[in-house]
Amino acid sequence: ADIHYHDFVVQATPVKRLCNIHTIITVNGQFPGPTIEVRNGDTLVINVVNRAIYNVTIHWHGVRQMRTAWADGPEFVTQCPIKPGGNYTYRFTIEGQEGTLWWHAHSSWLRATVYGALIIYPKPGSSYPFPKPKREAPIILGEWWNANPIDVVNEATSTGAAPNNSDAYTINGQPGDLYNCSSQDTVIIPVSPGETNLYRIINAAMNNELFFSIAGHPMTVVATDASYTKPFTTPVLMLGPGQTTDILVTMNQPAGRYYIAALAYASAQGVAFDNTTTTAILEYKFAGCSVQPMLPLLPAFNDTFAATAFAAGIRSPTKVKLPDPVDEDLFFTVGIGLLDCQPGKTCGGLNGTRFAASMNNESFVLPSKLSILQAYKSGVPGVFTADFPRAPPVQFDYTGANVPRELWQPVQGTRGLKLKYGSVVQIVLQGTNIVAGENHPIHLHGYDFYILAQGFGNFDPATDKAKFNMVDPPLRNTMAVPVNGWAVIRFKADNPGVWLMHCHMDVHLTWGLAMVLIVEDGVGDLETLEPPPADLPPC
Ligand code: C2O
Repeated sequence: ADIHYHDFVVQATPVKRLCNIHTIITVNGQFPGPTIEVRNGDTLVINVVNRAIYNVTIHWHGVRQMRTAWADGPEFVTQCPIKPGGNYTYRFTIEGQEGTLWWHAHSSWLRATVYGALIIYPKPGSSYPFPKPKREAPIILGEWWNANPIDVVNEATSTGAAPNNSDAYTINGQPGDLYNCSSQDTVIIPVSPGETNLYRIINAAMNNELFFSIAGHPMTVVATDASYTKPFTTPVLMLGPGQTTDILVTMNQPAGRYYIAALAYASAQGVAFDNTTTTAILEYKFAGCSVQPMLPLLPAFNDTFAATAFAAGIRSPTKVKLPDPVDEDLFFTVGIGLLDCQPGKTCGGLNGTRFAASMNNESFVLPSKLSILQAYKSGVPGVFTADFPRAPPVQFDYTGANVPRELWQPVQGTRGLKLKYGSVVQIVLQGTNIVAGENHPIHLHGYDFYILAQGFGNFDPATDKAKFNMVDPPLRNTMAVPVNGWAVIRFKADNPGVWLMHCHMDVHLTWGLAMVLIVEDGVGDLETLEPPPADLPPC
């Protein structure tokens, strides 16, 4: 196995998008950031140097981080942020994962521009479980604001209002032909007739699930979230923020130019919505560059059937050894809520309130003086409490229309749930219709989980347990819980540390749709977890 060394210099960089020059935060001046390529079993040593004016941390989204919780990255969860002028070296090994992951900033809204692909090839001497593709390329979907994204979120949190929508969706950092002043920079993906290529699709957008399609070219899904899948062919993909999907595409169409396109899916009813399409171009060798490409047929922006059917069709390649029996049978509601305006202030949320979001009515607040992992490892009190509830405080008609007012108001706090090392954990994630039902892409740090089932309405153990796929459920790190619906995940808590579980819509994370799982090691608390690296940033 190899060790790969990288320097990531976080810095301000001018880029031209949508007719104007903007100064954005990048890694090494690149947008999207550098692609990291490794093999399963390799070690990464990445020195992050902060030359920007903001605090920063980097998260390696989907990397298991077995016993390397100090390298996970979410600010104030596993580390304090790297301050301007500071640096921190992330060290971790890829163990048993192959496919596509990615990395992104995990501090305020910096990840809007600070992200890149992390590609994991098979170990030397082993190969893909499908014929070797002729070419490979990452295709990263993103979201672009003309304003500084940090200002956008700060303004929203100061008034309690919803943050402004982005100004464009992007493919590999470019909005594409259908946006103003962008056609010169549309991303071109060159192909030759007859070849079969592997494309690694990453949804790095901040606040939107995205439909994805390629005109005239069906896609064969072979992996999601760096786990192989049973191959299946589809005209359209759906990716929640945080999710990745690897596809094989055969160039069997007349030599020409074909649009690759992504469109945001909006699950909330009646929410104002920008349904602009971002495009790149699949360009055959010898195709005249003057040929106008065709657009693929994409679902309507509010097509919940298409959005949920895609995820429900994903399977593990073979029968899995599901962790069993369940030791922790948990039930977490996930949804939006509202808080009263602070006395003497005016608030910009619904009916003069502030938006908040919660799991089990707990709206998560990050600590500000020490990370939870440091506080836990060294026994510093007052940073968090370990009393996160295993079920919501009251049962109600979660997806019904008239949710009582007292359930609109979550309780703010920094609560985690302690799990015994090696325990088998099952969580029903139940979407709520409080304020508005929405699709929530829930991401768990430090783990992959099996998705046993998903459905609409309220989860009913009496009938829904029979729907669990105990044979070949998919293994993922991010699960889009359907709008006004539920999903069930299962995993074995075999990785000690403090692991954030949150909605990967950054607007919902900002509002507190998060909690932490505190996984003890084999001894008890974190006695056997390595002490923090000497250069862990001071708080
Ligand atoms: Cu990709 Cu906590 O995030």
